[in-house]
Amino acid sequence: MATRVPEETINKIRTETNIVDVVSQYVQLKKRGKNYFGFCPFHDERTPSFSVTDEKQIFHCFSCGRGGNVFSFLMEVEGIGFIEAVQKTAEIAEIPLDLQLNDSEPRSPLHNKKEQLIAIHEAAVAFYHQVLMNTVTGEGALAYLKQRGFTEELLKEFQVGFSPPNKLTTQQILAKQNFNHEALQESGIFTDRSENGELLDRFAARIMFPLRDEKGRTVAFSGRMLPNEEPVQSDYHEAKYLNSPETIIFSKRNFLFNLDKARKEMRKTSEVILFEGYMDVISAFQAGVTNGVASMGTSLTDEQIRMMNKLVDSVVISYDGDRAGIEATKKAIDLLQVGNRFDLSVFPLPPGMDPDDYIQAKGAEAFRHAITTQRETIFHFQGRYLRSQINMDSEKDRIHYLEQMVKLLVKVDSIIEREMYLNELAQDFDMDANVLKKQLQEYQKDHLKNQTKERKQAKEEPIVTTIQPSVKKKYNLVEVSERQLLYRLFHHEEAWSYLRELSPDFHFTDETHQTIYMLYDAFHDEMEEVGHIDAFLDWVKDVKLIEKVIEIEMIDLQADLSPQEITDLIGVIGSQSLHTRIQQKKNAIKEANRDQDKERAKQLLEEYIVLTRELKQTKQ
Ligand code: GTP
Ligand code: MN
Repeated sequence: MATRVPEETINKIRTETNIVDVVSQYVQLKKRGKNYFGFCPFHDERTPSFSVTDEKQIFHCFSCGRGGNVFSFLMEVEGIGFIEAVQKTAEIAEIPLDLQLNDSEPRSPLHNKKEQLIAIHEAAVAFYHQVLMNTVTGEGALAYLKQRGFTEELLKEFQVGFSPPNKLTTQQILAKQNFNHEALQESGIFTDRSENGELLDRFAARIMFPLRDEKGRTVAFSGRMLPNEEPVQSDYHEAKYLNSPETIIFSKRNFLFNLDKARKEMRKTSEVILFEGYMDVISAFQAGVTNGVASMGTSLTDEQIRMMNKLVDSVVISYDGDRAGIEATKKAIDLLQVGNRFDLSVFPLPPGMDPDDYIQAKGAEAFRHAITTQRETIFHFQGRYLRSQINMDSEKDRIHYLEQMVKLLVKVDSIIEREMYLNELAQDFDMDANVLKKQLQEYQKDHLKNQTKERKQAKEEPIVTTIQPSVKKKYNLVEVSERQLLYRLFHHEEAWSYLRELSPDFHFTDETHQTIYMLYDAFHDEMEEVGHIDAFLDWVKDVKLIEKVIEIEMIDLQADLSPQEITDLIGVIGSQSLHTRIQQKKNAIKEANRDQDKERAKQLLEEYIVLTRELKQTKQ
């Protein structure tokens, strides 16, 4: 191995870490039988086919075929090298690792660029925060934030800052830290209106909210204008919030505000509170609701939904109580309902209030209580939404409302809930519940028909994916036998002695199998015992081989091994290799005859006879 980390250290880290804990930081896992299952983080999927085995300390995706041990998982998911993965595992498992690893693997230039941009952001965060907390320049902003109820402690926790009105100051400060000019330009903090190479802070005179990625590193900013700020130009309408542009470290689609801090509580409770604004997230955090995130002021993206889905089962939508907030809630529900992955509810706010206003008005305690006890079901929200759009005094609108609501009942899974809502509707409209039930049955029939149609269409147009369906492969008898034999060799000392005794010159017909066999033979010699497939993977290194090993490891045969099983396996594999060799000889003989090479044909025929005799013997 071309690294400087001693083998023992790597082994220690691997054995002292549980892959389930590490993977859980990225994928929401559920225990099913011996294994844990979740949605594969490496591709899109509708049913979970990603599994992690506690006992074997490996992961495997049945759908895309990826697999490996804890190190390969981190390498793939974080896009890092082996040594970095070892280091990161040690970090997660809290194993002290006092090694200078940085020079052992050269980093790619891109990696460096990204790190430079992050370093620039971290320096800017510190500077802006300093300006807000300790300078005259920041006094106005600090007073405003305090008046809104933010404590100094909270401002520190979120590293809120203030960018000085002088657009040149930020660059002057950062210049002292020798950042590369090009990197500063690419950071997104400055505007391009630089005449003499000067970089102007695009956020000047704004309250600065660092936007941190899921690892807590600042990758962008959002700047809020001060409420009483005179517009710089009178005819120029300035946005309340200004965000960093897209850069190589920041993409709005893939970003959720506060995910790094909310993550722990999200995983623990399997629930996320979705807010509209940063202020709401921060306010709620101060009030003790620490599993809140916000999208970037735009509607939810698929990526953001996927990010949440990795951590939670439930989403509580807590958007503003105004018209725009209700519309946004409706839109979020539509997006979050796709694929039926979440348990959804709404925290309804009084008109004109956002969660932050609610906390300021009624206090933290009341908010904490309300957000857990006063949730609205999706069905009730839809009713409220529909009523806000029509005139309930008009008979026509009322009929439309009733029809729409019964239609929505089709999507309610629980029979009890459905029954409850149905009776509620009947009562509200002074109607016979049986009439509504009949109508519901009609809609259910239509719905079923549509579903069948959709399913048929889905079959006709398979979803295009970029993954190679390596696992869906069908194996022939010999392949199955070879895989089974390898599995036995991975797990039973006796398998080695039986094999050596029965067939000293054994050779797998499949070259990959043969390679794995030879590699594992060497590994086994060194370990002096079978098993340890997770450690073996670090020997193998080659991704294709690793995937193959994992696939074999996932076969899971019964615990007992008899000599007869090995004999049978060798028999099948051996006869196959004889068959192939006999076929090859036949072809060669034909060729020799065609060339009228009698000498060679005779020689080949003799060999052919020996082989067929052998084959006969194996069949006895
Ligand atoms: P306060 O008004 O300070 O209470 O902030 P807020 O978080 O309540 O903001 P609001 O409800 O008005 O907006 C919700 C979210 O939309 C904000 O947190 C921003 O992410 C985004 N947003 C609001 N106004 C703008 C804007 O002018 N430009 C951009 N890019 N985003 C905005
Ligand atoms: Mn607000």
